[in-house]
Amino acid sequence: MQKDTDLIKQKLDIVNFLRSYVNLVPAGKNFKALCPFHQEKTPSFIVSPERQTWHCFGSCAEGGDVIKFIMKYDNLEFPEALRYLAEKAGITLKTSNLREEREYNILYDIHAEAKQFFIDQLEKRSDVTVYLQNRGLHSETIHEFELGFSPGGEALVLNLLNLKFDVADMLRSGLAYRNKNGLYRDRFDGRIMFPIANAVGKTVAFTGRILKDSETEPKYVNSPESPVFNKSKILYGFHKSKNEIAHAKSVVVVEGQMDFLMAWQSGVKNVVAVSGTGLTNFHLERLRRLAETVILSFDNDNAGIKALERSLDACNEFDFHVKVIDLRPYKDPADAAKSDPKFLLDAVEKAKPAFSHIFELYFAAAEKSGDMALRKRIIRHLLSQIRHVRSGIEKDSLIKELSQKSGESESVLIEELENLPEERKVSVPEQSTVESKQPISERIDTIAKRIISLAFTYPHLWDIIRKHKERFPSIYHRVIDDPQGVQNSVFEMYSSYIVGAIDEKKLQEELLDLIKQLNIEYLKKRQIELKKDINKAQEDGNEEEISKTMGAFQNLIRELHEFIDSETNSNNEKKEKTDA
Ligand code: CTP
Ligand code: MN
Repeated sequence: MQKDTDLIKQKLDIVNFLRSYVNLVPAGKNFKALCPFHQEKTPSFIVSPERQTWHCFGSCAEGGDVIKFIMKYDNLEFPEALRYLAEKAGITLKTSNLREEREYNILYDIHAEAKQFFIDQLEKRSDVTVYLQNRGLHSETIHEFELGFSPGGEALVLNLLNLKFDVADMLRSGLAYRNKNGLYRDRFDGRIMFPIANAVGKTVAFTGRILKDSETEPKYVNSPESPVFNKSKILYGFHKSKNEIAHAKSVVVVEGQMDFLMAWQSGVKNVVAVSGTGLTNFHLERLRRLAETVILSFDNDNAGIKALERSLDACNEFDFHVKVIDLRPYKDPADAAKSDPKFLLDAVEKAKPAFSHIFELYFAAAEKSGDMALRKRIIRHLLSQIRHVRSGIEKDSLIKELSQKSGESESVLIEELENLPEERKVSVPEQSTVESKQPISERIDTIAKRIISLAFTYPHLWDIIRKHKERFPSIYHRVIDDPQGVQNSVFEMYSSYIVGAIDEKKLQEELLDLIKQLNIEYLKKRQIELKKDINKAQEDGNEEEISKTMGAFQNLIRELHEFIDSETNSNNEKKEKTDA
């Protein structure tokens, strides 16, 4: 019997499927596109119809089949991806032979039923609808985002039991818990329910807001984490707004569900809410694929400013352009949109670079107090944030701006920036004395991969390669022995990636040059290893070993110089030719 994964891959041709995600152009036997997982200007994303796989040869250096693609693209776990693709392929999963798949499906089904139950309950509670309308929500928004109401007690549990769900699954979903007396109860008790969807729109959790603010009960309660819900990966509303975000190349980030809904309703549709977790690296990695600019719109209070600064650092690490919405005089985006439905669209348009906003906030405070020590602390604090900015150009202009706002000269600020205490140490990989910054082991790898890949397009090169086999890192010996082996598809794809750039006439020359480089790198690597052996032999006082390793070292240096000299000569020849 065929496996579900094989069936999916048979039905969904990878090239056809990926066409709706990336712009594929032919490259030999394969196809090329700009990688959807990182920013780039020349295509390094290769798709092989023969192998039904993809691979990025750029900075993400990842690859896989159509399932892996959709898992990465839509942030799905394996069973979610499988289910999604099965729907697309029009096949029924043989769930019986995939227990895990069945368990996921039950969780999705429970959430879907619970959502409908909460919607039905809301219909019966005109007081709750009135509350939502008083907060400014239109009924279209309430319907579009499928808001509901959970009466609590055991209402949902009984409803789900009637639908023949198992209590164990209700517990797993987080929608029910077992109380002290061993009774199964609804987690959400008298709350307005906001369904939280994953990237493909399936409900995987809820947030519940209390109806009347209370001293003893938390205002918001979220579903606990479950196999389908990972709080730090999900952004509220993202499944609805992702196309708008990609289109605008910018994303407005707000704190809460109400902020999201009111922003959406007032026409700001490239929006997501972090809902109580703060922006995580998962969120940012996700958003970076679609957007270049993040527009932060947090509450206009101290907690909001703290959240803003934390997010700013994280956004800078991902090289986002960061702006901030000035909400004054309102307290949060929901409040602003309720009082003035046009406010947010306008404020997004006028959003200022984040640093300008923060500079202003801090210096206004310092000015008021006239406290010099405070001023100094503020400047250092701001500099420590500027340090996170990736782009040198942006850094320079921020220093300029800080100089203008603070009255300190730029050179003083730069000195101060350089003297800031280290936040973390970066370990420096062991390096040879040569010019390149890339460590030897990586360099030899790059060269070896390039040589082997060339031979995938020009098979007559294999003979030359075999003569030098011992100089290749051992992981390449298998492919040199058996280029047709199934595990070698990545080389074949890499071949499509590089070959276009190489002139066939120059091929032999390029190959000889690469082989020379390979030898040089190999000898340099051996040199480092031998040095260690010599040191050890000296420490041990092992005379025999000392003379053996020294001898080997001399031979190696000789051979290395031959290669390097021949390289210098051929460079000189080339130079003479061009000079002539
Ligand atoms: N939040 C949470 N748990 C809490 C309080 C808040 O998870 N106990 C999350 C919610 O997603 C909430 C967001 O943090 O929407 C922002 O919190 P807050 O500013 O307190 O809520 P508001 O959005 O202002 O709520 P409301 O407008 O409904 O009063
Ligand atoms: Mn708020």
